Amino acid sequence: MGWFSSDIDTFDELFVHTLQDIYYAEHQIEKSLPDMIEKASDAELKKGFRMHLKQTKGQIKRLDRVFKMIKSIPQGTKCPAIDGILEEASEIAGEIEDKVVLNAALIAAAQAVEHYEITRYGTLVAWAKVIKRNDVAKILTLSLKEEKATDKKLGGIAKRKINAKAAARKLKKPSRGERAENAMLAAAAGIPAI
Ligand SMILES: [Fe+2]
Ligand SMILES: [Fe+2]
Repeated sequence: MGWFSSDIDTFDELFVHTLQDIYYAEHQIEKSLPDMIEKASDAELKKGFRMHLKQTKGQIKRLDRVFKMIKSIPQGTKCPAIDGILEEASEIAGEIEDKVVLNAALIAAAQAVEHYEITRYGTLVAWAKVIKRNDVAKILTLSLKEEKATDKKLGGIAKRKINAKAAARKLKKPSRGERAENAMLAAAAGIPAI
């Protein structure tokens, strides 16, 4: 960036910048999905994440193609929004011990990611049409449709079983033995019994 000039001056540059934004986001998502696959304990959810990892790899290839079509080098630009969404997802997952509740949290986090991608691809498709690149818009629409379908699928799994199962989980009451042990530990630590 030179003096008195900005990084993005034209609509074409804004388009490329947004393409780089989603390129970065897709790579971060590709890195995060294996962790989500591992953490999911519901077979259908695990399978859904696995399928979306495959789709994500294909979406990255599609973006490579688009960069080529507009004669630009495929590269990402740091996107704090997706970093924040993914960071929050891994933070909350780390705080949940109950596997069933964790499934509900994983779906919620994944849907936040999908919604981010939907907004980015939605904008890019609209902009590609404005700059008369219907060929580019067509390719990006394929990814937009995949993200929308994934969001719908995740919402369906949550609604059909995961949310109700998670809501039915209650805190396990400690057994008499565990209660006695806790009381002894508390006494040893000098905590008065209530
Ligand atoms: Fe994606
Ligand atoms: Fe996605």
